[in-house]
Amino acid sequence: MCLSHAYGTPPSPAEAANVLHRAIDIGYTMLDSAALYGFGNNETLLGNALKDRRQEYVLTSKCGMFKNAQGVREIDGRPETLRRTCEDSLRRLQTEVIDLYYLHRWDKRLPLEDQIGTLGDLVSEGKVRTIGLSEVSAATIRRAHAVHPLTAIQTEYSLWTRNAEVAVLDTCRELGIAFVAFSPIARGFLSDAPPDPAALPPKDIRLGMPRFQGNHWPHNLSLLPPVRDLAREQGCTVAQLALAWVLARGEHVVPIPGTTRVDHLEENAAASGVRLSPGTIARLDAIINPATVSGARYNDATLPEIDTEEIPA
Ligand SMILES: NC(=O)c1ccc[n+]([C@@H]2O[C@H](COP(=O)([O-])OP(=O)(O)OC[C@H]3O[C@@H](n4cnc5c(N)ncnc54)[C@H](OP(=O)(O)O)[C@@H]3O)[C@@H](O)[C@H]2O)c1
Repeated sequence: MCLSHAYGTPPSPAEAANVLHRAIDIGYTMLDSAALYGFGNNETLLGNALKDRRQEYVLTSKCGMFKNAQGVREIDGRPETLRRTCEDSLRRLQTEVIDLYYLHRWDKRLPLEDQIGTLGDLVSEGKVRTIGLSEVSAATIRRAHAVHPLTAIQTEYSLWTRNAEVAVLDTCRELGIAFVAFSPIARGFLSDAPPDPAALPPKDIRLGMPRFQGNHWPHNLSLLPPVRDLAREQGCTVAQLALAWVLARGEHVVPIPGTTRVDHLEENAAASGVRLSPGTIARLDAIINPATVSGARYNDATLPEIDTEEIPA
């Protein structure tokens, strides 16, 4: 995502392609895109950069949320829209099949069953191999899974966003569905160099997120020094500690960090070698959890788009 939009200023296509190649070279096995990212440009980037390495990684993308003719982000789960988006994605990605295709947000104005049914049809037609959902509740997962088997649920999950712990992590484990944790580094917060909201460009999406705003941000920053100490104790960086924490949640939990930088890419990959004891996990949990973090993860306009179990801020 951040190779094309969302945080800071995206890198040039050549720099982004370098990051993608390096990711595969050092052992990343899954690359995550969406029709929404860069409004199609992220899929184009992946297709151009990696068309000759298609067999070396699992390709995931998403439909159901995109830029409309007025240039506004829109959720549209109509079967004809999902089908058209899939065709556009295949063309931009320069591939015949997408390994895992998510409904980015389900369109609550329409029956969930019709949207999952359409994705199931895309599987039958060989355009996508498996399907998933993003930012949904345990009840929605069960409803969808009954229509067509789900392979993965992609939802925000990190030390500071624990909604999935209410029911989704257990439901995924029970049903044999992978849980893909997005924003595992808390959009840069859980690192040795957290962003400075005052210095972010106007289009940076973190400026619209309460945790990075007003009095919430200095409070949240004040939680970091003991996390840094814990990271030093473990011989790792804060980002690696955050990723190791996610990895320790269960075999079915897969973190997908995002980066525009090769050094961060390498740092994050090395987190798979960091093993945390139950005692260390408990200490980390006590420092950063829903009760200690200040502010909601999404703003009031965005929250209605999702149906995950929310934890009051
Ligand atoms: N399904 C959904 O609705 C949804 C929503 C959001 C994201 N996603 C997916 O999840 C992926 C990851 O999400 P995310 O990008 O928010 O994850 P993230 O890894 O929590 O945050 C990325 C941010 O953290 C910084 N960062 C990464 N590694 C770092 C390190 N080692 N040290 C310091 N800073 C570091 C990056 O800056 P640098 O570029 O400087 O490294 C970037 O600004 C996205 O690419 C997208 O595919 C899905």
